[in-house]
Amino acid sequence: MTLSAAQCAQYDTDGFVRMPSLLSDAEVSILRDEVGRLATIEDECVFREGTDGTPKTVFRMHESDGATASVPFRALSLTPRVLGAARQALKDDALYIHHTKLNMKGAVEGSVWPWHQDFGSWYLDGIAKPHMTTLMVMLDDATEVGGCLYFLPGSHKRGRIAPRWDDTTAYKFWALPPSDVRQALADHGDPIPITGKAGDAVIFDCNLMHASSHNLSAQDRWQMYYCFNRVANRPRDVENPRPDYVRSKNWQPIEIGPDRIDDPSLSPAAE
Ligand code: SIN
Ligand code: MN
Repeated sequence: MTLSAAQCAQYDTDGFVRMPSLLSDAEVSILRDEVGRLATIEDECVFREGTDGTPKTVFRMHESDGATASVPFRALSLTPRVLGAARQALKDDALYIHHTKLNMKGAVEGSVWPWHQDFGSWYLDGIAKPHMTTLMVMLDDATEVGGCLYFLPGSHKRGRIAPRWDDTTAYKFWALPPSDVRQALADHGDPIPITGKAGDAVIFDCNLMHASSHNLSAQDRWQMYYCFNRVANRPRDVENPRPDYVRSKNWQPIEIGPDRIDDPSLSPAAE
């Protein structure tokens, strides 16, 4: 078991649980090199902001095909550490990945994600139930001044709140109405900064309210997100579906692989 019984209970109560030192220093180094490669790719899966062209977000690293396919990021998604934890969080072994994203939040210019629930967008993707979870891995140290995530513990229990379209930030998306956020902050107390060291991780419920602020520091803030859904909860057809890189149509259940990210059998040539 990846998560202890106490961690599973904490996930249910708070809507998230930390997974310190999920990656070794060597694994962080492999993935950081891979981020450097991905950041140079020009594709519809890569979104940039700022004056130096640093990507804000790179999508779809978990598949074995496509411009942003990544052997080590795909391998990590299949490890017992990652997929095992997602299976425990969702209490189901038949999972697929709705999307993966690398949020780079560049030094000085990397900008805010307003308060939101991920399920605000995913429900509109045609997904009926909030049986989804995200595992986030830090690829450098996450600090408050650098724009770390903030979670509002217990807020997942409010269920899905009707979102509003927010086009005031670099990444336009379905955020929460400010009045709902103020009420939740009054009810649940102070948000928790998700700071940590490179290689630390956290897994969180799709209805957990979260946000992050501007990166005021001199360091980029690199974080990888794996978003899992139950196969049984795959989206129904919707009008004008979002692109596959953010709303996957690969609903095959994924299987646990080796507990390493440098396995040559996972390279595209071996598949
Ligand atoms: C997100 O919540 O989807 C991204 C937030 C962040 O990377 O700061
Ligand atoms: Mn989010």
